[in-house]
Amino acid sequence: MKNIIITGGAGFIGSHVVRLFVNKYPDYHIINLDKLTYAGNLANLKDIEDKPNYTFVKADICDFDTILELMQKYNVDGVIHLAAESHVDRSIKDPFTFAKTNVIGTLSMLQAARCYWESLPEKYEGKRFYHISTDEVYGALEMTHPEGIEPPFTTTASSGEHHLAYGEEFFYETTKYNPHSPYSASKASSDHFVRAFHDTYGMPTIVTNCSNNYGPYQFPEKLIPLFINNIRNRKPLPVYGKGENVRDWLYVIDHARAIDTIFHDGKIAETYNIGGFNEWKNIDLIKVLIKTVDKALGNPEGSSEELITYVTDRAGHDLRYAIDSSKLKNELGWEPSLQFEEGIEKTVAWYLENQEWMDNITSGEYENYYKDMYANR
Ligand code: NAD
Ligand code: TYD
Repeated sequence: MKNIIITGGAGFIGSHVVRLFVNKYPDYHIINLDKLTYAGNLANLKDIEDKPNYTFVKADICDFDTILELMQKYNVDGVIHLAAESHVDRSIKDPFTFAKTNVIGTLSMLQAARCYWESLPEKYEGKRFYHISTDEVYGALEMTHPEGIEPPFTTTASSGEHHLAYGEEFFYETTKYNPHSPYSASKASSDHFVRAFHDTYGMPTIVTNCSNNYGPYQFPEKLIPLFINNIRNRKPLPVYGKGENVRDWLYVIDHARAIDTIFHDGKIAETYNIGGFNEWKNIDLIKVLIKTVDKALGNPEGSSEELITYVTDRAGHDLRYAIDSSKLKNELGWEPSLQFEEGIEKTVAWYLENQEWMDNITSGEYENYYKDMYANR
């Protein structure tokens, strides 16, 4: 029997991790600890909410006393920490909330785990604190290419993987941190605290840094669900700058699979990069998305391209992210299971089949947020 707290389990990635663990490990007790901010939605977990090995607790990760009480009450052996403020645009408008949730919240989780585990006779034996982070802490990569070859060009990762890239450099586990946005600065700071708790107190910690996720249940302020919904509603598609920025996209269920593998088999104090070997320029990805949604809705192919609207660029917009996840493949055997085209088709189909989920979010109070967010773009 293992008792595991998953923080942020009502959010996008967290809900997939909770679902995977609850279904795959009936003898584990999964405690989903979430404050239910604007991004937390219990509708993401409807299919598992009645399972006997699942408990939901509404709590704030910044509330140290409550977290410590929960650790004691549920005899917690493991923490998988995903709760965070996660949207770069919001961090530009309101950096304080990001410092509070991502830095103080992570510190409070670490300190509560430490107080509880150090009070036990076995101390840290059989315990694990797994912190989920982002590739954005590494900063931004250049777009470079071998002479005479236009990007994207085929390159080979150290795991032997062939893939298309927009530059010759990648983020490795050894890449120096160089965050640019308040979001990535707060995540970088939280990563440092996690490693400090290992080095100072001997806490068994693991950190992973993952690339951009996409798939079902993503809050529609992020590129892919926002654009699917706007195409459906014939609303403008706000492309930041020239749409030239590059991101490395991973299907969310593959991220959840990686978290499962690393939680069980990862080495204490290690860092693992998780990525899709799947770089896309925003504008090219948007065109694939338009084609897929138009096809699904029976619109003439590409007709929604007229919705593309170039808007003022995001401040400090990182040019390119690209993860080399060879370490994870070589040491633990994980690799993405889905090709991008298949993942996008599944994702579009899911949002179109679950319009009620989307409409419940985009109606009411969120309307004002969207109006405010795009008012001056
Ligand atoms: P999300 O915004 O969809 O969900 C965040 C969840 O955390 C929500 O359920 C929210 O209610 C909860 N939360 C926020 N503040 C809280 C608090 N103070 N106490 C308790 N719960 C709180 O985020 P996501 O996209 O699922 O990301 C999850 C994690 O993965 C984050 O740590 C993020 O930095 C990281 N990550 C995300 C991506 C991505 O592409 N989305 C990529 C790499 C890493
Ligand atoms: P996003 O989904 O916000 O993820 P992140 O900022 O963490 O990479 O954005 C993905 C890319 O899409 C990023 O380069 C910004 C761009 N983008 C737009 O062009 N328009 C939009 O409306 C949004 C939300 C993002």
